[in-house]
Amino acid sequence: MSTNAPPSFSNATVGKKILMAITGFLIIGFVIVHLVGNLQIFIGQHQLNVYAETLQNMGALKWAFRIALLVFFLVHIWKGIVLWLENRSARPVSYTKETNQESTLASRTMIYTGALIVFFVAYHISHFTLLDCHPEYQSLPLVDGRFDVYSMIILGFSEPLIAALYIIFVGLVAFHISHAFSSLFQTLGLTKPELLKRLRLFGALLAWLIFLAYASIPVAVLAKIITLPGGGH
Ligand code: HEM
Repeated sequence: MSTNAPPSFSNATVGKKILMAITGFLIIGFVIVHLVGNLQIFIGQHQLNVYAETLQNMGALKWAFRIALLVFFLVHIWKGIVLWLENRSARPVSYTKETNQESTLASRTMIYTGALIVFFVAYHISHFTLLDCHPEYQSLPLVDGRFDVYSMIILGFSEPLIAALYIIFVGLVAFHISHAFSSLFQTLGLTKPELLKRLRLFGALLAWLIFLAYASIPVAVLAKIITLPGGGH
């Protein structure tokens, strides 16, 4: 067996980074699309419920999308853990781009913010998709024959502790993205310092925008800017 054989694509450090970059990019795409969908809560109950029903009625496409998203998350987490373990073992890595990587609090804590996000996403799916944290949401009265996602979100965020947890959650997601965005372009080969500086700035702006827009939903519920159709919480 030759020891000079090149490592296979997925086993090489660069290969892992590229898989992380591509899956990370696709996950950021989902986070933005999901945000735009959820912001329709500000338009009103009818709009949000119709949107949610349209997604639910997509049948096979919905399941294809869910499976793809799960695969992106699993690959991203798996490669992230492997890279973190490799970096921790502090063996010399012959990856020239590494020297360009800027060390920031966000970059040094990616594994921890990533792990916390996994916990929160699991809780979030249990909260709003499976409804097993709050089975009472299943008996919310239908509105125009549709499940009332609008009221479910308002009831969820009327509990200050839950609203605060979501604000922390979206803060972690934004903090993770603030480093991930420029890093992914760097991994994909963009190494010009001037361009990287701009991408870092754009990544930071994007992260702040994602944070403020997502956090505006629990904040608006707590501040009673968005209320149940009857006017209450
Ligand atoms: C204020 C913040 C958020 C609100 C109000 C919200 C709302 C929702 C709702 C209502 C659902 C259920 C959709 C359905 O089953 O029809 C859902 C599902 C989901 N959310 Fe969020 N979300 C928020 C933030 C996030 C963030 C930041 C992420 C990702 C990092 C995320 C990831 C997901 C995932 C993966 C699902 C499952 C999708 C599916 O069932 O196919 N959410 N969200």
